[in-house]
Amino acid sequence: MEKLAGLSEESLNINQFQQDLLNWYYENARVLPWRSDPKPYYVWISEIMLQQTRVETVIPYFTKFISELPTIKALAGVEEEKLLKLWQGLGYYNRALNLKRAAQILVEEHQGQLPSAVKELMLLPGIGAYTAGAIASIAFGEAVPAVDGNVLRIMARLLESRADINNAKVKKEMQTLVSQMIFKEHPGDFNQALMDLGATVCLPNGEPKCDKCPVNTHCRAYKNGLTATIPVKVEKKARNIDKKTVFVIFSKGYYALRKRGAGGLLPNLWEFPNEEGYWTENQCRNFLDKMRILPEKIVPIKTSKHIFSHREWHMKGFFIIADADLNHSDFTWVTKEEMDNQYSIPTAFKEFIKLCE
Ligand code: ADE
Repeated sequence: MEKLAGLSEESLNINQFQQDLLNWYYENARVLPWRSDPKPYYVWISEIMLQQTRVETVIPYFTKFISELPTIKALAGVEEEKLLKLWQGLGYYNRALNLKRAAQILVEEHQGQLPSAVKELMLLPGIGAYTAGAIASIAFGEAVPAVDGNVLRIMARLLESRADINNAKVKKEMQTLVSQMIFKEHPGDFNQALMDLGATVCLPNGEPKCDKCPVNTHCRAYKNGLTATIPVKVEKKARNIDKKTVFVIFSKGYYALRKRGAGGLLPNLWEFPNEEGYWTENQCRNFLDKMRILPEKIVPIKTSKHIFSHREWHMKGFFIIADADLNHSDFTWVTKEEMDNQYSIPTAFKEFIKLCE
């Protein structure tokens, strides 16, 4: 594996780099609700939402979350169903459950306040090195790095490094280098300037806008025409594919839902009944028979796909109009309105929810 060189005078003029980056940031910073009032709680919630999710998607979720749960104490006491509903559509639901767990710890052990030190922040569920660095620098002014995929890409290009940025050791080394580059007077602005640069200028997949880049004079990949080949990322192994058959069962104005188990993928969320593999209509009839549900009409549903980080669901399905005994059933029967307002159903089932209009 290629080793990263340290920062030297020849590799980067740090003072000039800081000035060029921050001047650009102060002119071009994106206006974001958690920036205008960077309370530690707001920064924390926004950073957790922004893991794996784009800024434009996060903004309305953030605003609703903060208005429903305005304090760490409110988050610590929220009912899980309500929390999951506020998170519906953001995915990676463990992030929401960890928020609540962390809030409970903060209430019990830290007087309901976030600590300011990276080491202490990292003891909380759901907070890793990146998020701890972002909270400590943005909310508390600590001069610590916050290195995510965007920052890794910027650093690799700046230094013309061909080291694999998916490699944990390389990430650590990059963190050390960013620590040496940080603008100590305004570390939160420095880190957020890098985040904005990565999101709007130093774009991935060979499409960076180098002519608009405020730090292009510092960038070795730009100078040497290598921005299309750097960063180097050794791809992770292929995702597993799960085939499933999903049953949208409608009876007397109600739809059948069931709650997922507490462990594994999408814990405790609600779903349409579904089974492993692609089932035939006959298998479907047997399944309904076992559930004491009498089908009146069975219509196949076209295939839909959902991609998680490590697996893909390929789902076929059946829409079933049925006569069911709603009071003696393994399922929970809900109206469309209740489905929309009270039950958190993962985005994976989006196409099936649409059929319930
Ligand atoms: N991505 C993650 N955190 C961010 C932040 N604070 N500002 C902009 N983009 C981000």
